[in-house]
Amino acid sequence: MAPVTSLTASVHQRLATALSAALPEADADPLLRRSDRADFQANGILALAKKAKANPRELAAQVVARVESGDVIKDIEVSGPGFLNITITDKAITENLAARYADTDGRLGVPYAEHPGTTVIDYAQPNVAKEMHVGHLRSAVIGDAVVQILEFTGENVVRRHHIGDWGTQFGMLIQYLDEHPHELDHKEGEDLQQSGEQAMSNLDRLYKAARRLFDSDDEFKTRARRRVVDLQAGDPRTLATWQKFVDESKIYFFSVFEKLDMEVRDPDIVGESGYNDMLDETCRLLEESGVAVRSEGALCVFFEDVKGPDGKPVPLIVQKSDGGYGYAATDLSAIRDRVFNLKSNTLLYVVDARQSLHFKMVFETARRAGWLNDDVKALQLAFGTVLGKDGKPFKTREGETVRLVDLLDEAIDRATAVVREKAEKVGLSEREIVENGQYVGVGAVKYADLSTSAVRDYKFDLDQMVSLNGDTSVYLQYAYARIQSILRKAGEANPAAHPELGLAPAERALGLHLDQFGETLAEVAAAYEPHKLAAYLYKLATLLTAFYDQCQVLSADNAPEVVENRLFLVDLTARTLHQGMALLGIRTPERL
Ligand code: ARG
Repeated sequence: MAPVTSLTASVHQRLATALSAALPEADADPLLRRSDRADFQANGILALAKKAKANPRELAAQVVARVESGDVIKDIEVSGPGFLNITITDKAITENLAARYADTDGRLGVPYAEHPGTTVIDYAQPNVAKEMHVGHLRSAVIGDAVVQILEFTGENVVRRHHIGDWGTQFGMLIQYLDEHPHELDHKEGEDLQQSGEQAMSNLDRLYKAARRLFDSDDEFKTRARRRVVDLQAGDPRTLATWQKFVDESKIYFFSVFEKLDMEVRDPDIVGESGYNDMLDETCRLLEESGVAVRSEGALCVFFEDVKGPDGKPVPLIVQKSDGGYGYAATDLSAIRDRVFNLKSNTLLYVVDARQSLHFKMVFETARRAGWLNDDVKALQLAFGTVLGKDGKPFKTREGETVRLVDLLDEAIDRATAVVREKAEKVGLSEREIVENGQYVGVGAVKYADLSTSAVRDYKFDLDQMVSLNGDTSVYLQYAYARIQSILRKAGEANPAAHPELGLAPAERALGLHLDQFGETLAEVAAAYEPHKLAAYLYKLATLLTAFYDQCQVLSADNAPEVVENRLFLVDLTARTLHQGMALLGIRTPERL
């Protein structure tokens, strides 16, 4: 099915044609935007007139005289110093929406991007043998939304979960597990959630016990250090024990991702260890090309603008003086893999802003090495810190980092209470209450994260997140469910577009906003800004509320066509809400 030309695009095209007729030499952009005074306003004439040394109001009048009107443009008039105010015909609005409604691909007429590429996105990257915290939540939630949005535009997306699965800390753990082989056992008959909890509690217990021994027993310490060497040398028995930690951690990760209602696939988990085979060559290439130099035994890359507090340059250390490789060597190797093996032209990293200096140095190094360039770009989608209600980094009362699982459970509990309050009126079964509680609770957490610009810190405030009023996911979920309830109550009447009908102001406002879904998505995808999609959806829900205030859908006073046309309008609104929320990773229950 062909994509639907948006009203904005139709008006733009008509104005551009009229403009180039009036001003042949100009490369004419009318600069069209939505406006409160009319449906659209074009501001581009002022600058064009100035360039052509013409009178802007006169030029505007010439455009008005030349513009094709009637079918799409109902009114066009000059205002102020040379703006154009444009009003669209009701018929064009309804016909446009009807074409979106008829799109059998389920894309609401939204076109694919013209030049899709391959994007590798690095997100949801927790660390082996460690608890996931709120920072990992942000990376997962923002990353997942960006994946969905990019895929919707037709981009080829490769997901990479760069988990922390390598490093010297494993020596101690491996040695301890070999000496206490039953520490990772599981009870029989566990489901995924129970296994996840068991796995994390095993790992936590083991970590603490190993640490205690390491700090108190010098002989254990020596044995543990030897295991680090064995691990790096690829000793098979040591690797086998290391693998047990990775597997145990994955059980836990998958249980959290399931709770988050998010798909993470095993083959996409390529942790730090996945690049071990490339590290030597990465260093060799950097050293041979002179990008990296030896300094006090270490292989380093220096930067003009990266200096420590003492004014001395702080290098990126690619290889330590003892020959060991760290985080930077792995990331540089991952870039080579993503560029040359996965053939991507965009590398995205959804990582905490506190790692920005690391990525700045890594990207610059890769650029100097020629692995990144104007055609192959890398970008950190940095996100801010999650704060508690007090505005300080989110901690438990005891000052510990908050366990992600506890936080999600609490959100689900609160949401279930909210759902339960209305459940009787809606006639929800206990099963639906529990299910909706999960959708509303998880949705609340995701939406709070996605509705503010990622770089900003945000306050984790559950009371606000599950509030029925305001910019929350549950407000949007209710808007969707309310439409479904109207559609169920409609009985014999079916949604159907009637372009011959005149539209009330609230219907026009809703319709014009519905038309902008595709343009909003294109912008959101180009700038990786899911918060603008959240803002679009919130506005859609508020326009729907205004529509309900002013227009009855199922009223005996309405002519049958009016009922059908309004059912069609709300149904398209529901589909748009559903699609938009799905791109943010949030479910829209049918009854709430
Ligand atoms: N595992 C890291 C952490 O927990 C995040 C990894 C980010 N990705 C990367 N390619 N360095 O902080």
